[in-house]
Amino acid sequence: MTDDFSYHDYVGDEGFLADYNSYQARYAERIRESDKVIVELLREAASQADSRLQVLDIGCSTGNLLLHLRRSLPKADYVGGELAESSLEECRRNPALEGIAFERLDITQLPRERYDVVIANAVLYMFDESQYDRALRSLAGALKPGGRVVLYDFAHPFEHQNLTILETSLMHPKGLRLCFRPMKYVAEHMLAAGFREPEFRPFELPIELPKPGYDEEVVTYTVDASGGSRLMFRGALFQPWCHMIAFKA
Ligand SMILES: C[S@@+](CC[C@H](N)C(=O)[O-])C[C@H]1O[C@@H](n2cnc3c(N)ncnc32)[C@H](O)[C@@H]1O
Repeated sequence: MTDDFSYHDYVGDEGFLADYNSYQARYAERIRESDKVIVELLREAASQADSRLQVLDIGCSTGNLLLHLRRSLPKADYVGGELAESSLEECRRNPALEGIAFERLDITQLPRERYDVVIANAVLYMFDESQYDRALRSLAGALKPGGRVVLYDFAHPFEHQNLTILETSLMHPKGLRLCFRPMKYVAEHMLAAGFREPEFRPFELPIELPKPGYDEEVVTYTVDASGGSRLMFRGALFQPWCHMIAFKA
């Protein structure tokens, strides 16, 4: 296991991306439950806007979320941003995504004041603290005045527990960084990066996902807790997935 994992390793690992892109193909037609929440959050933004929204999905992978966003809200302009070339190529070849611009963009160096909404769906958990702060500043800078960011990431309520885990798995034999940040930390860093009113909406999966075998790939599965809630695990780990919304200050 290596402790110098960087998102550059992730976006350049073509062997892993080939597998990951075929995993994503499962969700091209069937929208993920967490993505349904993002569709609703965009609907909310559209209902409050007086002009056509410019929307960026940064770290868009093979473009599934964009496909569903455009189906639900066709009256917006969508851009998919990615660093992984093979994912960008797949998006550009996909006729279902025609009309959406796909650009090679790094979340830490986005163009300034270009979008009304920027979505980063399951991207920032792999960033170390300095990359994370750079990404937050870049996200705030990329928004037009009044614009908002929608993040889906790990965030939990334990104020003093900032966890970084290096996880090896079949897909990431050299290790993948997983950061589980306190909501308090995220809020403070968002405010410092140029956001206002960060809001956290912890996500609970409304469906059951089966537990994989102990010798299989690490994927999300659910466990029913005694209080009636459904917890999302990944191998031995509980995953505090959370939608976060904040506005450009
Ligand atoms: C776990 S995947 C999530 C993909 C997609 N957003 C989803 O929710 O299914 C993380 C994505 O972020 C991309 N990524 C990683 N670092 C990035 C960076 N610095 N700038 C832009 N995209 C990045 C990866 O290539 C990958 O597609």
